[in-house]
Amino acid sequence: MADPGTFVDYLTADHRDSDTLLAWLQEQADAGCFAEARAAFARFRADTLAHFAAEENVLFPEFERLTGIQNGPTEVMRVEHGDALALIADVSLALEEHDANRAHGYAEALLILLQQHNLKEEYILYPAVLGAAGSNAAMLSARVVQAREGTVRPDLQP
Ligand SMILES: [Fe+2]
Ligand SMILES: [Fe+2]
Repeated sequence: MADPGTFVDYLTADHRDSDTLLAWLQEQADAGCFAEARAAFARFRADTLAHFAAEENVLFPEFERLTGIQNGPTEVMRVEHGDALALIADVSLALEEHDANRAHGYAEALLILLQQHNLKEEYILYPAVLGAAGSNAAMLSARVVQAREGTVRPDLQP
């Protein structure tokens, strides 16, 4: 039987990876190694977009359906995703222009924004969804993980 906590562990691991990639990107940009910085950024960006999509397309709607709360924490999380996307565009441009100071600064702002965002998800939103899902937690976990990985299994479609 699948561990009902899987999606929490899975998405939390993504959060830790994002911290690591942003710190590495900063180090590489500071050292003038822009090819390495851009490679780290490309992976960070792809992982983050897939992570946001899994949250916005599966996890947040499930929270809203289970709790009936439409304009609460999930709305705040969506706005913060939008703020993060704007900073991601700023980092991208700074790296393209080989501007280490701006790349470092925007990456730092992104790191702080995401750390605060991720703590709210890990300590409030994820446990709330898991608790509300009850006996359907394992199925929900499978759907979140598959959305994150961009795969679709017909047997898990509603
Ligand atoms: Fe999020
Ligand atoms: Fe997240």
